[in-house]
Amino acid sequence: MTTDAFFEKVLTVRLTPDRKGVDIIDQTLLPGTVKRIVLSTREEIWEAIRKLRVRGAPAIGVCAAYALAVTSAAFETEDMDDFLAKVHEDAEYYASSRPTAVNLFWALRRMENTARENAQMSVAQLKERLYEEAQAIRDEDVNISLGIGRIGFELLKDLKKEGKSIGILTHCNAGTLATAKYGTATAPVYYALDKGWAGTDMHVYCDETRPLLQGARLTSFELSSAGVTTTLQCDNMASLQMKMGNIDIIFTGCDRVARNGDSANKIGTSAVAILAAYYHIPFYICAPSSTIDMECPTGEQIPIEMRDGSEVTDMWYKEPMAPRGINVFNPAFDVTDHSLITGIITERGLCRAPFDKAFEELGIGR
Ligand code: MRU
Repeated sequence: MTTDAFFEKVLTVRLTPDRKGVDIIDQTLLPGTVKRIVLSTREEIWEAIRKLRVRGAPAIGVCAAYALAVTSAAFETEDMDDFLAKVHEDAEYYASSRPTAVNLFWALRRMENTARENAQMSVAQLKERLYEEAQAIRDEDVNISLGIGRIGFELLKDLKKEGKSIGILTHCNAGTLATAKYGTATAPVYYALDKGWAGTDMHVYCDETRPLLQGARLTSFELSSAGVTTTLQCDNMASLQMKMGNIDIIFTGCDRVARNGDSANKIGTSAVAILAAYYHIPFYICAPSSTIDMECPTGEQIPIEMRDGSEVTDMWYKEPMAPRGINVFNPAFDVTDHSLITGIITERGLCRAPFDKAFEELGIGR
């Protein structure tokens, strides 16, 4: 059940009570160990984002907003220009932690704009204002997930057949662990539970999501903990599941959506979308409007993070699972072409092609 106790247990990111640190669940230790850590210095915050202790586009944005409020509060200056320069310096530093998820830059820009727009305040007042803005970003994220959940739930209702559970496939983790509360791709599922559906009304198939196993370690963990019927599969098993008729709908998250609807998400998402098109299964991207980058014309312009090859060869094994020194291709994300996407679910509404027009109609980017 999606009780508050469940969400409290897996609360991704919050401010410490004394507001001197960012308190996160260390996602690198899940599912075996549920441990919270406090990040107090800018270096600790950068490392936590870089190493995916906190990850998922919206959660990274919330974490960066809290981080900027925390580290700015410690600046020992009364001079506003000096304060703003220091805020900018920290924002640039956090922005260098990961390149693809646009929410990171969006949240930092919003925090910096708040600082600049309130420069008539005293430095002490502005520090308070930054805490408020970070909290607003976090609270809005909860409502955004709910909005996505409500729309996704309507799609699930259309698929409901007496005596049969709905097969939902998801890739990576766009769940509560990737956001402030309900997730994006998982939001329709949590929403359905809250509307009285049983965990057995839906069957979620989680791609394990090589190489960092967010599907295995995080999505299957959180959904099964919430009482949802969950099956874990290797990424290369998705095709057979679709062929067997077990998948009715696909929901994934995204890290950045270009103006034309091309969507960057965890590596392997585009393969899922290609399979879905082949098997005529609806493929939906779940995207907070802050993930839609109207300044980015197409997927070609989305920077793709490349990560260390040891994540593929060594990370999960006692012994290296590949010859020493082998070349490794390890991009963290790929771009799904807009032509493969049935719809993009935002908290403001469901967008269908042409996506640029649909985004404009919803006022996204304004
Ligand atoms: O590298 P990660 O784990 O941060 O990648 C996460 C994803 O790809 C998610 O699907 C995306 O950020 C959306 S989270 C709501």
